[in-house]
Amino acid sequence: MNANLDAAQMDAGGSAQAQLAERYGAQATPDAGAIACNPTLETLLGHRSVRRYSSEPLPSGLLELLVAAAQSAPSSSNLQAFSIVAVEDKDRKARLSRLAAGQRHVAEAPLLLMFVADLSRLRQVGTACGETADGLDYTESFLVALTDAAFAAQNVLVALESLGMGACYIGAMRNHPEEVAQELGLPQGAFIVFGMTIGYPDPAVETGVKPRLAQSIVLHRERYAAAPPEAFEAYDATLREFRLDQAMSDIAWTAQAAGRIRDAGSLMGRHVLREVLQARGFGLK
Ligand SMILES: Cc1cc2nc3c(=O)[nH]c(=O)nc-3n(C[C@H](O)[C@H](O)[C@H](O)COP(=O)(O)O)c2cc1C
Repeated sequence: MNANLDAAQMDAGGSAQAQLAERYGAQATPDAGAIACNPTLETLLGHRSVRRYSSEPLPSGLLELLVAAAQSAPSSSNLQAFSIVAVEDKDRKARLSRLAAGQRHVAEAPLLLMFVADLSRLRQVGTACGETADGLDYTESFLVALTDAAFAAQNVLVALESLGMGACYIGAMRNHPEEVAQELGLPQGAFIVFGMTIGYPDPAVETGVKPRLAQSIVLHRERYAAAPPEAFEAYDATLREFRLDQAMSDIAWTAQAAGRIRDAGSLMGRHVLREVLQARGFGLK
């Protein structure tokens, strides 16, 4: 036990263990030692994607706060190579929902944020400085923009969850990337990485914390060691329990994951992304 932690912190630490137990379900619960829980950890450990929203309007100033949270994320070389398109127009949300496999929550959420890997602004800046900006034509620059957009988005998600709201990433925005880019008027060098639906969770729909793979599978100490196939059996059983509890279809995680990566056809139109990205001005050299 750490003598620097006072008694109140030690008591609070118990709730971190409870949240860890929920995160890993019937699998072994990692031991967080004497580290006390706090509101930030509670928000992170309690994350769940929310796909049903109440009609409660979002508070004014929320968008500005969320964008500030997004911009507070670290950024590669401070290049800030991302943008956000906020969509509230009902008809536009409906069109984007159709482009994203008809997902209901895209049309229904009061706010839809679209996260853009954005090299167009840097090209503008580089050109204005008299540079060729040829560095933007390399895969590295795409990765910079992609990771900047992802970190910004995750900051937004944590911020809104800390306020009692719910959200869901929408990777299906990459199913028809050209149409989505046109709908949002994206310039060359800009690409929608994913959307995010945002709203207050519908209180009538209880969404549980989805258990994750055991830490023994994910955490490698010093050197990587692949987990044996049987290591996944416990997770399959744990996730099956969760899915049945949430009235979801009864399919093992391993089978679902294997199906999702089976072949080009299982990528839901996203197998052409390299060509799409190159057509959108990402060199990917
Ligand atoms: C990049 C990304 C794209 C996602 N795309 C979708 C999507 O299109 N539709 C959806 O309902 N959920 C989507 N999700 C949510 C995942 O299904 C969800 O995070 C995962 O099942 C784990 O569940 P949890 O977030 O409730 O813990 C996406 C998540 C991420 C990180």
